[in-house]
This record gives sequence, structure tokens and C-alpha cells, in this order.
Amino acid sequence: MSPKKSRKPYVIGNWKMHGSKAGVDALLQALISNLNPIQEVQVVVCPPAVYLEQAGRIIAGSSPVASISMGAQNLYPEPEGAFTGEISGPMLFDIGCRYVIIGHSERRALFGETDGFIARKVDAALKAGLRPILCLGETRAEREKAKTFEVVFNQLEAAIKEVSVESFKQGIIAYEPIWAIGTGLTASPHEAQAVHQFIRAKLSERDPGLANIPILYGGSVKASNAKALFSEPDIDGGLIGGASLNHEEFINICLSALN
Ligand code: 13P
Repeated sequence: MSPKKSRKPYVIGNWKMHGSKAGVDALLQALISNLNPIQEVQVVVCPPAVYLEQAGRIIAGSSPVASISMGAQNLYPEPEGAFTGEISGPMLFDIGCRYVIIGHSERRALFGETDGFIARKVDAALKAGLRPILCLGETRAEREKAKTFEVVFNQLEAAIKEVSVESFKQGIIAYEPIWAIGTGLTASPHEAQAVHQFIRAKLSERDPGLANIPILYGGSVKASNAKALFSEPDIDGGLIGGASLNHEEFINICLSALN
């Protein structure tokens, strides 16, 4: 049994490109009524951008007001301008987001996002008052070549080197091994803990004030494996994809994060 952690755990649902108006309503009502009494875990939902305003209204209109927070899945690094189709940090903040996922492997792989672009997004998020959830992770081939630590370190360095230590204290890291995302293959608690410990050591080398940043694990987290992962000393909760769309699974994952 690992020692109790002093850091507050986070469970963040990344809904990806799933949902409908009716589905957002049903999922959020179920989460609000079941999770409201749990104050010890910070629960965040990240619906698709078109449903953020609806989600914000449901959360703000709940009585008592739900402790669930809202995040976006992406942002554009400029505050405004001629960027057709894009959404800025100040706009996300304006409609009630307080978090934003940045550098997800799907955006890196499918939309060609580079480390440099991701670094600009981290900076823009912090300037807009949003907490960036910075995703890091290696491919299967990189793991097999024993390059996990190198890859994760390079991604981390590139994303935070331009932002001040003071502002990055608001950051959250999500370690998401690409081979574990949506595959049903979860990193073992031991494998994940080794990478989390490494990330925390690197943050702390950069500045001791960064040592307590939440570091979440993502990649095929389910109610059945969450407790073992979250019990590891450097795993402060999870970034949940598929299982965040099922309210019973997600609620049980949130309960697994209670110390
Ligand atoms: P799965 O939980 O579906 O593997 O997705 C993880 C993820 O990508 C969360 O951002």
C-alpha cells in the first residue's frame, strides 16, 4: 500500500469527438448527481467545443452548483484574429472553461502538431487563465527501443521551456503512452509509475516549485484498473477517454481516486 498523497487527485474525461445535445445532457446529469458529494477529487469534463456552452450551463445551473469543472480539448495559440475555424484561450475562458488539453497524441499524429506549436499553446493557455493539461507519451516502437524516457523528456522540455516556472505551476501533465490509448492495453502500474517518477524528478530539477504538479495517467483506464494505477505514489489521477463516456464507469474511476 503506497503512502497517502498530499496532492489532490484529478480525474479528467476527454470525450474526444463523441456526443450529441441529448447525450451531453444525460451524461452530465448523471455525473452531477453522483459526484457532487465528492469534494476530494477534482473532476473535469472536456466535451467537444460545440457542446461546451451547453455543458457549462448544466454545471452552473445545478443546485448545489456542481464541483465538476470544464475543459476544452484544444485551443489556437493567438487570442483573436483571422484564423478561420479556430477557438482562442480567452474565448474558452469566457464560456467557463478552466482547463484545456494540449499536445494530445491524436493532435500530434493526425493534425501534425509540432513541439513548437504545442509550446505556443501552453503559453497561450496560461495567459488566458486556463490550466494546460499537457500530454506526453511514446509510441510502441519507441518503448521497444528503450526510448520512453528520452521521448517524454524532449516533449516536456520543448513544451515548457518558453513559459515561466511561476506560470507553469498551474500546469497539469498527462502521461499517455500512445500504445495504450484506445487499445485496451494499459501500462502496468509499475511501468506508469516509473515514467511519472521520472517526469516529477525532471520538473523538480527545473524548479522545486514544480515538484507537486499533478501528473495523470491516460491510456485505457477503466474502473477495473484505475485503483491500482492511482495508488502509485506519483500517479495523481487519470485522463480518461472511452470510459469517460459511460457514466457508471467514469463515476467508479472517480471513486477509485479517493485516497
Ligand atoms: P482511452 O481511455 O480511450 O484509451 O483514451 C485515453 C486518452 O486518449 C485520453 O486523452
